[in-house]
Amino acid sequence: MNVLDFQKMKDEGRKISMVTCYDYSSARAVAESSVDCILVGDSLAMTMHGHPNTLSATTAMMALHTAAVARGAPSKFIVADLPFLSYRKGLKEAMDSVHELMSAGAHAVKLEGVRGHAEIVRHIVDSGVPVMGHLGLTPQSVNLLGGMRVQARTDSEADLLASQARELEEAGCFPLVLECVPSEAARKVTDLLKIPTIGIGAGPRVSGQVLVYQDLLGLNPGFKPKFLRTYANAFEVILDALDTYDRDVKNGEFPSESESYESHPIDRPLAESSDGISGRQSRLCGDHGRAPRRARHAAPALARRV
Ligand code: KIV
Repeated sequence: MNVLDFQKMKDEGRKISMVTCYDYSSARAVAESSVDCILVGDSLAMTMHGHPNTLSATTAMMALHTAAVARGAPSKFIVADLPFLSYRKGLKEAMDSVHELMSAGAHAVKLEGVRGHAEIVRHIVDSGVPVMGHLGLTPQSVNLLGGMRVQARTDSEADLLASQARELEEAGCFPLVLECVPSEAARKVTDLLKIPTIGIGAGPRVSGQVLVYQDLLGLNPGFKPKFLRTYANAFEVILDALDTYDRDVKNGEFPSESESYESHPIDRPLAESSDGISGRQSRLCGDHGRAPRRARHAAPALARRV
C-alpha cells in the first residue's frame, strides 16, 4: 500500500481497512494480517498511557510509538497523528513535529479539523508529506465540543462538515477520517469528494473503516459505543492465561521437567534443533548458542523463529 493506492481503492470501489497500533508486538500481528494500513493515533494517550482523553499526547510520545510500530510492521503504510496543539503554534513548530514523526517511520501524518490551519496542511503537503484529515468528532477539541458526542446531526452542521471536507481536499489531503457522524452525512461527504473517506462511527457508505486495536480485540472491557464491533474477547483470553499461569506456579506445576534445563545439553547446532527456542533466547538463558535439550514447550512464536 502506498499513498496512491488509497485513491485507487476508492476509484475501484474497494474498501480500505485501517487499524490503530501503538507498539512493536501488536504491529507484528497487524503486519501479518491483511489490514491495509496503520494509524498510530493519539488515542495512545488513552490506550497505552491511561489518560482520560487524547490531550496528553506529545510529539515525543507519538514519535516513540511510531518508531516501535515501524519496526514491527515495516511493510505497512503508517499514518501518525500530529498531537494536540502541535500544528497550532506556528509553521515552524508544526513542521518540527511533522519532521519528528516522519523520521520515526511514518509515511503520512494526520491532523484534526481545518479552521485556521488549512495553510499549514497545504505547506506540509507541499513539503512532500501526505496529510490525512480528520473531521466530525475531533477528540482534541473535546473541551470545545462539550464531550465525546456525535457530530453533524443537523442539516446545517452536515453542510458545514461537507464544506470543511472540501477545504481539506483542496488543501491537498489524501484521505479524510470521519468520526462519529450520521451515516447520511458521511455518505454525502464521500460522494462529494474525490479523495477517500475513512469512517469510525460514520456508517457503511464511506471508502473505508478504522477501529482502535484495543477496541476491536475486546481489550477495552466496558467500552461499547454503538459503532463498535468487537472481533475477539482478548481481555478474557489474557486474564484466563494469567490466572492459569498463577495457579500453575503456586501448585508447583510450572515449570515441568520438560521446561527445565539439564546440566549436559546435547552439543548440536541450534539450526538443527527442533527445541523451539531462538538463538537469542538461548543466549539469554546462558547456553551460549547451544540448544537446550528438552525445551519443547516454548511459545509458538519462539518456535516459529527457529
Ligand atoms: O487517535 C485515533 O485513534 C484516531 C482514530 C479514532 C481515527 O484518530
